[in-house]
Amino acid sequence: MKKKSVLFVCLGNICRSPAAEAIFIDLIHKKCLANNFIVDSAGTGSWHIGKKADSRMRIAAKKRNLHILSRARQINIKDFENFDYILTMDNSNYFYVKDFQKSRNVSGSALIKKIQDFRSDFNEEEVPDPYFGGDQGFDNVLDILEDSVSGFLNSIY
Ligand code: 4NP
Repeated sequence: MKKKSVLFVCLGNICRSPAAEAIFIDLIHKKCLANNFIVDSAGTGSWHIGKKADSRMRIAAKKRNLHILSRARQINIKDFENFDYILTMDNSNYFYVKDFQKSRNVSGSALIKKIQDFRSDFNEEEVPDPYFGGDQGFDNVLDILEDSVSGFLNSIY
């Protein structure tokens, strides 16, 4: 069976999308589905390329036994060919990705969605950017993402 590929996208690729990636990887391991997936994350911005995820997010995740190992990278044209699903954290990332796809006339059939389209327990239509806020914002992002990322997995499996 062909593996399904999933790319999570935020602005900096150091807070929300690496957290979504780690939550998804944890879920597919727990459900013995890890061999069926290729999972990655990327940012629309370039400021943090090569950096580890924000330490505040890594600490918040570790408290839930989630280990964020990714290094930041920027989304590129190949991602539209390589990934089946591109899941954005907020409206701004969503429109950036859609505009990128349109303006560069990219090939590929990636389904581009907002991760919050898969939420069930939370009202937030976007995953709030925690970067300029306090530590609580990182726990809140993880709570929101645990709900919507598992909703996404349930929608395809
Ligand atoms: P992320 O958070 O998009 O969830 O990774 C941010 C990280 C960095 C910045 C903004 C948001 N920044 O402005 O540097």
